[in-house]
Amino acid sequence: MIREIKDGVLYFDGCNTVELAHKYGTPLYVISQTDITEKFTELKRDFLSKYENTRVAYACKAFCTKGMIKLCQREGMCIDVVSGGELYTAMEAGFPAEQIEFNGNNKLPSEIEMAVDYGIGRIIVDGLQELDIIESICREKGKTVKILYRITPGVKADTHDYIITGKKDSKFGIPLDEHILYPQVERAIKSPYVEFLGFHFHVGSQLFDNSPYLQAVDAVMEHVKAVKEKFGYGVREINLGGGFGVKYTDEERKPYSYFTDPMMKKIKAFCEDIDIPMPAVVIEPGRSIVAEAGLTLYEIGSIKDIPGVRKYVSVDGGMGDNIRPALYQSQYEGIVANKASLDRDDRVTVCGKCCESGDILIKDHMITSKAEAGDIFAIFSTGAYGYSMALNYNRNPIPAVVMVKEGKSEIMVRRQTYADMIAGDIIPKTLI
Ligand code: LLP
Repeated sequence: MIREIKDGVLYFDGCNTVELAHKYGTPLYVISQTDITEKFTELKRDFLSKYENTRVAYACKAFCTKGMIKLCQREGMCIDVVSGGELYTAMEAGFPAEQIEFNGNNKLPSEIEMAVDYGIGRIIVDGLQELDIIESICREKGKTVKILYRITPGVKADTHDYIITGKKDSKFGIPLDEHILYPQVERAIKSPYVEFLGFHFHVGSQLFDNSPYLQAVDAVMEHVKAVKEKFGYGVREINLGGGFGVKYTDEERKPYSYFTDPMMKKIKAFCEDIDIPMPAVVIEPGRSIVAEAGLTLYEIGSIKDIPGVRKYVSVDGGMGDNIRPALYQSQYEGIVANKASLDRDDRVTVCGKCCESGDILIKDHMITSKAEAGDIFAIFSTGAYGYSMALNYNRNPIPAVVMVKEGKSEIMVRRQTYADMIAGDIIPKTLI
């Protein structure tokens, strides 16, 4: 068990969380290497070793640090980046460029140039003008690059509106309209600057039902068939995106195979039917690899009991280190880490320290009535889109990240200092 309670204290991957909080300070992101490695082991067992010619590209937007990229490399994973900044992080971590895929709905020419210079594995082309930019950069540099087209399969997934991406009305992907897609495919097949491999889709995020994925596979495979018929071209790669759901509160994470097995079966049957070799198949999980591997530790400060209304328990972080509750009304669970065995007999609202009424981390949550200032509060499942979406609102520094493994801890990202925050500030000469 990655999480356990011993002598009334919460332990995480063998580490006493209260000691971690005191050693490294709060707020503190804690990431369990054991939990992440277990996810990779599951992916290797149930996907990579089970099916030939498959790859996992960790969507590093979920949690992108040099250490995390290194762990992916050690585990034989590819990665998916969506910006020059993520790409730079990966290169600085020593990650091989040919195992990186580049997604994004508005890649800047400078980012594409950087990717081509590094010799990136694939660019997932997301719009109609992007090929122009790629071709002109490759022409100038005398290089070629492998591409896939990201298409919007036109399926609606059951999740928060902000993280649906596969429906037609989306800023992501190219709609599956023949008159839009096929001229682009033909052009890519004929282009001397790109090597066209196939199609990519991503239906949405935090999904627990495999049916939108299967509908998307159906939609894409129809176009694989059309590409074969029209251009005599057998698609060589299909990327099924990520989005596999995780447990924050009551949800139950489904194994990867629940999604991948039926999709692989469908793709295989389709390929046999139209007589093309099975393409390479890639998945891009982000959240499901790191979410449950993370927790955030805070110190409790002011406690405000408004009789008959609500009891607010404030912690020393908030929306700056976890924007998800404010942005998506995401639900979390937490516990007073140094009083972990006490009855949870008090309904409270755990809030942050930002000057913003919406800075609520957990609303109406049962915790011990013995909670007081100085206690350590732990919020679970914060490993994905916590640190990676952190911000400096109110000029609160971004917390440190510590990696834990079987009772040992090591710093992964040092805490931002006040000096770090103002490092880029310059007082205009006209003001001096
Ligand atoms: N591939 C593509 C093309 C994506 O756009 C995404 C996520 C992923 C893979 C990884 O999805 P995952 O396995 O992590 O669900 N900030 C939001 C999530 C935004 C996801 C955007 N794209 C959140 O905190 O819920």
